[in-house]
Amino acid sequence: MCSGVRRPRFARDLALALALTACGRAAPSHAPDAAVSVEPRATLDFRVEGRTVRRVTLEELERAVGVETVTNFDAYYHRVKTFRALPLQRVLAVGFAGETGAPLATRQFVLRARDGYTVPIAGERLFEGGAYLAVRDVENPSWEPIGPQRANPSPAYLVWGEAAQTSLETHPRPWQLAVIEITRFEVAFPHTVPTGEGPDSPAMRGFAVYAQQCVRCHAVNREGGRVGPELNVPQSIVEYRPEAQVRAYIRNPLTFRYGNMPAHPGLTDADLDGLVAYFRAMSTRKHDPDADAGAP
Ligand code: HEC
Repeated sequence: MCSGVRRPRFARDLALALALTACGRAAPSHAPDAAVSVEPRATLDFRVEGRTVRRVTLEELERAVGVETVTNFDAYYHRVKTFRALPLQRVLAVGFAGETGAPLATRQFVLRARDGYTVPIAGERLFEGGAYLAVRDVENPSWEPIGPQRANPSPAYLVWGEAAQTSLETHPRPWQLAVIEITRFEVAFPHTVPTGEGPDSPAMRGFAVYAQQCVRCHAVNREGGRVGPELNVPQSIVEYRPEAQVRAYIRNPLTFRYGNMPAHPGLTDADLDGLVAYFRAMSTRKHDPDADAGAP
């Protein structure tokens, strides 16, 4: 994609424009771009099982790993977008330098955004190649608004560079990324697990769907994302909504009200049976630290 390169209007655009003429094959520069960065001092936290091991500014990361141009279809913008971006593998190598144990590509990660979006993801995926942290929107120095709430995705937006990496389910794109944590799902979200349910039970099937798709936005027992409402405490969703309504809502929320939950047309009836079984199982396994602490 070489189209859309503007003539530089200001001296500070020059470096950006020169990098752009390389059409996505720009050599990594080891100085930050001269173009406007919305929050140059923004930081990224690197954690291991809840403990922050390093906090690095995006400027420092740019200097350490270099910035490249990435162009690919973006499922949130519904079109091809071009970003200046840091190769994620090198970002992880810097952030977790000195971290001992198994190679990063074999570990489990959780990505946390400022708005509460929370993505469990395998290191294998992050290291398959093509993952980048976008730090500038090439077409719009103040970033094109994203998502149903027209949010600003800066200062760091996870993007993927390959044509085969455009599904949000397999290649999630959290914006406003703030924390990259090495941790396993059961360690990060222990109270979301329907302990004691058989491995082939509907509840376990529902849990798998929740862990894959819903935990990004919804907490169960106060663990998980904070974009949507908590689904289990103080009352479970299946305790105050009719089951048929819960199922229909999950499949297509926009037939009820215009809101910020995406439709899930790909869920089968068995997936929905599983989710309802999972919610029922969790309604008998409530864990509410705020209630225990006497908070409202
Ligand atoms: C991108 C974020 C996001 C994802 C992913 C998501 N939800 Fe939601 N969900 C929301 C938001 C936000 C709401 C609040 C209502 C709204 O805006 O429509 C909501 C509302 C709900 C409600 C309705 C609560 C009520 O008021 O009755 C249920 C049930 C629900 N979600 C279940 C799920 C399940 C199950 C999944 C996974 C298959 C899921 N959601 C995936 C964001 C999300």
